[in-house]
Amino acid sequence: MVIMKVLIAQPIPTAGIDLLKRHYDVLESDHVLGREELITAIGDKDALVCAMHKIDAEVINAGKNLKIISKLAVGYDDIDIKFAGERGIMVTNAPGVLTQTVSELVFAHILALARRLPEADHYVRAGNFKQWSFDLMVGGEIKGKTLGIIGFGAIGQRLVPMAKGFGLKVVYSNQQGEIPEFENDADVKYATKDELLKVADFVVLLVSLTVETKHLITARELALMKTTAFLINLARGPVVNEADLVRALQDKTIAGAGLDVFEFEPNVSAELLAMPNTILTPHIGSATVEARAELSLKAARNVVDTLEGRGCENIVNREYLRTE
Ligand code: GLV
Repeated sequence: MVIMKVLIAQPIPTAGIDLLKRHYDVLESDHVLGREELITAIGDKDALVCAMHKIDAEVINAGKNLKIISKLAVGYDDIDIKFAGERGIMVTNAPGVLTQTVSELVFAHILALARRLPEADHYVRAGNFKQWSFDLMVGGEIKGKTLGIIGFGAIGQRLVPMAKGFGLKVVYSNQQGEIPEFENDADVKYATKDELLKVADFVVLLVSLTVETKHLITARELALMKTTAFLINLARGPVVNEADLVRALQDKTIAGAGLDVFEFEPNVSAELLAMPNTILTPHIGSATVEARAELSLKAARNVVDTLEGRGCENIVNREYLRTE
């Protein structure tokens, strides 16, 4: 019997590696493979497990035996799923396992912006804390404010009970329209994107990156927001026109921004780095021990289910798959 070969293109938590090793010949890289290394290593592999590589036609073509690309994330905008499908290669993602973790980071950004935590922290570290005073680092309560969620999938919906716990009202907009489950919920309202932007105190972006959502937020949308409102992007950088955002922050069109992703990631605009009213985190939406272990396991299960012909619910390129 021929044992199939799996390439893991960067270090990942062991749970998934152990599962794959029980079935296959696994090559696990101890570093993030460079593009040329990836193209060489993928040559004879049946499966690729990856998290951060750009998987375009050239990489896909290099995988002569490739049957599945298993992405260790929810978003897969960096994989050419159409080209893979046309070559009969399945692409899978790992939804569900990071819903709680990402939602918690949304609230970390909300609370940190509302209470100016980075500014306050820098203030103390810089030795500026000489005396308590009434006007020192005054922020705003989040109770009674409105959370606007653009992209109301699993993560957006998980924010609802958290928002209620903090006494926030929720407004959401969604490409799929109103979600029946929330129709009778007095604290959760459906709105168009523009209506949402006008009323929300915290606008949270959770959409996937597609041609439709690229630059969903530009100067026009930022101008609709309240001057006291904050923009929080945990989706993908290019959903926001970063130059427009910088200008809106400089002009005080909005109060601040919490960004976990950047338009030209990992590069971050110098202007953003210098602004005290921004919180910048390095794409750590899924970065908890719990979520990362589950991600690794789910990505491995997707490989096993696919290679063993059991069918896999996480295939994201069914519409393009060429069947022999
Ligand atoms: C992380 O950004 C993901 O898409 O899972």
